[in-house]
Amino acid sequence: MELSEIIKTRRSVKSYDPEKTISDAELKNLFEEVTLSPSSFNLQHWVFIAVRDLERKKKLREAAWGQEQVENCSIAILVCGHLNAGKDAPKIYAEAPQEIQEKVLPMIHNFYDGNRQLQRDEAIRSSSLAAMTLMYAATGRGWATCPIIGFNPVAVSELLELTPDYFPVMMITLGYQKNEPRPRPYRRPVSEVVRFNSLNGPGL
Ligand SMILES: Cc1cc2nc3c(=O)[nH]c(=O)nc-3n(C[C@H](O)[C@H](O)[C@H](O)COP(=O)(O)O)c2cc1C
Repeated sequence: MELSEIIKTRRSVKSYDPEKTISDAELKNLFEEVTLSPSSFNLQHWVFIAVRDLERKKKLREAAWGQEQVENCSIAILVCGHLNAGKDAPKIYAEAPQEIQEKVLPMIHNFYDGNRQLQRDEAIRSSSLAAMTLMYAATGRGWATCPIIGFNPVAVSELLELTPDYFPVMMITLGYQKNEPRPRPYRRPVSEVVRFNSLNGPGL
C-alpha cells in the first residue's frame, strides 16, 4: 500500500477476530520498522511490552475500563516512555565522531538532568511518534490497531511490572479486524487547523 492509502485506511478498530494470532517473526519485522522512528537526540525513549497471553490480556482489559478490544486483539502493546533515557546517550553515541560526542553528550546532560517534567515530555513526544509508526506499519501489513489511553496507569504499571523510570504513554491493540468500522468521525477542516504566520492568521 502507498503511504497515502495507509493513512486513509487506518482506523481505531475495536472489534477483532480473537482467533487470529501474530507470529514473533511478523512482530519482529514490524518493530524493526518502528525502531526507525525519530526521537529527540536519538535517545529512543521507548520500550514496548507486548501481551499475547489471554489471561494477561483479560487483566489488562479490567484495568482498561473493560474495553473489549484489549482482550480480543491478537496482541496488546503497552508503549512505555523512559524517563531516564539520557543515561543511554554514551552507548547510543559510542560510534559517533569524537567531536559530535564532545558536543552532544554534555548537551543532553544539561538538557535532561534534574528536569523531570522535560524528561516526561520528551518521552511522550518520542514514544508517541513510535506509536504512530507502529499503527501505520501494522496497517500496511493488513492489521488493524487502536490507540488507547482509557486505562488505569497504576494498575497497568503494576501488572506489567514497570520500574519507576518507565511509565505508560499509551496502549495499542493490534489484531485482525472483524467488523467494518463505523464511518470515520468528524475531522476539523484544514482551513481551520492550519494557519499562516500566527494563530490569528488566515487559514489554508
Ligand atoms: C491518545 C489516544 C487515546 C485514545 N484512547 C482511546 C481509548 O481509550 N479507547 C478507544 O476506543 N479509542 C481511543 N482512541 C481512539 C480515538 O477515539 C480515535 O482515534 C478517534 O475517535 C478518531 O477515529 P479514527 O482513529 O478511527 O480516525 C484514542 C486515540 C488517541 C490518539
